[in-house]
Amino acid sequence: MTLTTRRRFLQNMAWMTTAAALPSEHAKHATGARDSAKLLETSGLPRFVDPLPIPALAKAAGLRPSPADPSRQVPYYRVAMRQFQMKVHRDVPPTTFWGYDGSCPGPTFEARKGKPILVEWANELPQQHLFAVDHTLHGAEADKPDVRSVVHLHGGRTPPESDGYPEDWFVPGKSATYFYPNQQDAAALFYHDHAMGITRLNAVAGLSGLFLIRDEFEDGLNLPKGAYELPLIIFDRSFQPDGQIYYPVSGKTGAPWVSEYYGSAILVNGKIFPFHEVEPRKYRLRLLNSSNGTFYKLSFSPEPSVLSPAIAFHQIGSEQGFLTAPARMNLLILGPGERADLILDFSGHAGEEVYLRTNVAMVMQFRVSSKKAADSFSLPATLRPVPRIQESGAVVSRQLTLADYQNRLGRSNVMLLNGAHWNMPVTEKPVLNSTEIWSFLNLTDDSHPIHLHMVRFQILDRRPFDLSVYQLTKKLFTGPATELSPGELGWKDTVRVDPMTITRIIVKFEGFAGKYVWHCHMLEHEDNEMMRPYVITPA
Ligand code: C2O
Ligand code: CU
Repeated sequence: MTLTTRRRFLQNMAWMTTAAALPSEHAKHATGARDSAKLLETSGLPRFVDPLPIPALAKAAGLRPSPADPSRQVPYYRVAMRQFQMKVHRDVPPTTFWGYDGSCPGPTFEARKGKPILVEWANELPQQHLFAVDHTLHGAEADKPDVRSVVHLHGGRTPPESDGYPEDWFVPGKSATYFYPNQQDAAALFYHDHAMGITRLNAVAGLSGLFLIRDEFEDGLNLPKGAYELPLIIFDRSFQPDGQIYYPVSGKTGAPWVSEYYGSAILVNGKIFPFHEVEPRKYRLRLLNSSNGTFYKLSFSPEPSVLSPAIAFHQIGSEQGFLTAPARMNLLILGPGERADLILDFSGHAGEEVYLRTNVAMVMQFRVSSKKAADSFSLPATLRPVPRIQESGAVVSRQLTLADYQNRLGRSNVMLLNGAHWNMPVTEKPVLNSTEIWSFLNLTDDSHPIHLHMVRFQILDRRPFDLSVYQLTKKLFTGPATELSPGELGWKDTVRVDPMTITRIIVKFEGFAGKYVWHCHMLEHEDNEMMRPYVITPA
């Protein structure tokens, strides 16, 4: 860590609270702030004039022999990445996107636990990128093609050769067929691009989609389904006046990388300010934050104002499946890559409107019809037990720093995990089926969503940490743990690591041996060295 980082870090201690440190205050950070003249003023667009789009379901194109057992036939899908045009709002000219099957979000997969599938991901993108590639970033050098892609199923317990290793990218005209065993509990996973050094650009172009895994336990809960189960895929973008996506450049010649992307508009399933007609009954909402870098503080309210009182809802699941019991709450913090499974009851709002909003912006409107609706679902007292993993079972405990190395102007040059660059020797080598504790020491000013591939984990705690105290005394914790939200007590695959905290997770490395990655899910950080390979070694 440089002196500048440290100075910024110490300066910020005075005023920073966990909440203030979350980079979710949209307006403040919007990319439009710097050169708003050339941006579309999205906050002034008419609200709630476009219906909420629902992504299509992915359809199998036949059967193919399973790579795990060639005597067995498994469903085979082919999904092509293509450039296409999409209307993000009635009054915005069509926008060029890249999407799986030519849509953004891509088609939703519905898989069942224990029922493997094969997906051929085909790169049919044009030869030219929509955004400026930074050839100074590792893995994106000028000798590599600008348009490259590789698909990762986020949250999937996937064998290494199908996990979408960032260097396994392929160019237009090529494809990769991946095998997803789906040997894991019901959960909302998502697939997205992961190409080395350009993930942020491929993602901002639109390459992501939902992948639901269902199981018998879920069937037994009688949860709202069909039209009563809504995917809400949230991401932010800024636009140019001609409707095209705006992605900023640094102003440094030959090195366009910027350290964060915050769009001025929040889209749900690809629309700005959509509305959706609902019945006065309970709905299951499957939320995914597929933004490059924005954390959202989400709530529901009966009025289109960010200051109106919030309506309570229940969270029933986190990234990797159901919580032990439904948790009643008013506010949901959702970081990049995180998902939440919610039950929202519209029955008390017949004939009215309900809004989804952040703490600073309106997001969408639900129009609740006044007709009586049948609803056979009642919230169970308990869901799936999430037994806490005992710390005593951990065989290795690692301390891993998150640090920001800045230039003399205080601008980020690079952010590193444990002080190591991507191409340095692998340092995290857990043994298959062993349990480890990973402590993330955040030495930066921002919250970072940290994600490990292949595994699910539990958060142990988040405790305050003071760098100056640590340097003097080597004392790690300067206070008691802050309370985890109910959703953070379930199975996770992405964890928010707040500034000046140590966030500890406990992980059992179950699944497959092989090479995977762990990284920050702020994609600008991930593309600039905030990603490390890790190897699960056979027992
Ligand atoms: Cu959501 Cu490494 O990815
Ligand atoms: Cu980060």
